[in-house]
Amino acid sequence: MKADLVLGMGWGDEGKGKVTLHLLKKEKYDLCMRGNGGHNAGHTVYQDGNRLVTHAIPTGMIHGVQSLIGPGCVVNMDLLEREARELGPYYHDELLFIDGRAHIIGDNHILEDRAGGQVGTTGRGNGPAYRDKYARVGKRYGDNPGRWRSVDTYSLLYDDDDKNILYEGAQGWWLDIDWGDYPWVTSSHCGLAGAIASGIHIHGIRRVYGVAKGYDTYVGGRDWEDDGDEMMKKIRVAGHEFGATTGRPRQVRYLDISRLIKACKMNCVTHLVVNKLDVLRELNCWRVIWHDKLIDMKNEERFRETIRWEAIREVDSLSEVIFSDSPELV
Ligand code: IMP
Ligand code: MG
Repeated sequence: MKADLVLGMGWGDEGKGKVTLHLLKKEKYDLCMRGNGGHNAGHTVYQDGNRLVTHAIPTGMIHGVQSLIGPGCVVNMDLLEREARELGPYYHDELLFIDGRAHIIGDNHILEDRAGGQVGTTGRGNGPAYRDKYARVGKRYGDNPGRWRSVDTYSLLYDDDDKNILYEGAQGWWLDIDWGDYPWVTSSHCGLAGAIASGIHIHGIRRVYGVAKGYDTYVGGRDWEDDGDEMMKKIRVAGHEFGATTGRPRQVRYLDISRLIKACKMNCVTHLVVNKLDVLRELNCWRVIWHDKLIDMKNEERFRETIRWEAIREVDSLSEVIFSDSPELV
């Protein structure tokens, strides 16, 4: 197998969907798979001038590529039906597979999640569904499959040696259940480990795309943004930083280069994509956090060169840093 991975280096919403669709157009993949999370994700992409949002369905669907909801995912049948409907002509039943090991998000999980708690979840039932999975009382898709094909990921990945796989991570490294800012995290493995646990062979990994933005955002129950800084509000508006799943405003901070580098190191990132430079350009704001200090890079060139230079110097696996300033292109 040959596998490319797209992973979030922040708190989700880095633009993984855009990078995934870009790769689907550029390379020929046999399968696009998700391996963690469920309907909490919201991947926004632009195709033929249409704005499309996927949640549990891999972005491969939009490009007509076989799409797998992998063994580490959680899924709710009604939400899946709705998502399929909303994708309209971009959805094809015969392209969607669900591993029989994926856990079912029951209506009880959703109700429980919606009832609240400090984490400020997306209310899609993820936490309770994963809790039941780990307590070994969960229900799996294969126990009672619905209209989608229940499959064994092993066969899809290993029966044919030449498969070209695109793994689409959900959420981001700092929302990871183990490495994120616990308890302000999601309930799954958002990084490299999620891909490996889903069946991707370590030796098959070709490229790891780590995706970040030129600034950081977080959505959830924690007070995260500096309320006294007007620039945060400007970035939120200019960058349309409102959740794709829940519509909640995302809190904004300047890009923390030290944390970005840690995330890239731990996930063996080979290609770092830094999105939304158009937003910073519009506001002419080139500030970063570096070793816990706010530093003004003054201009775009210095901003880019500092990130590029530091990341390449610190992250052994890294070979390319790509800056993007368009919602549609990488
Ligand atoms: P949960 O995943 O719905 O349990 O939510 C846990 C935390 O992760 C909350 O702060 C959510 O806002 C955040 N979260 C979950 N999925 C995403 C996502 O796809 N993008 C951004 N934040 C997310
Ligand atoms: Mg999102």
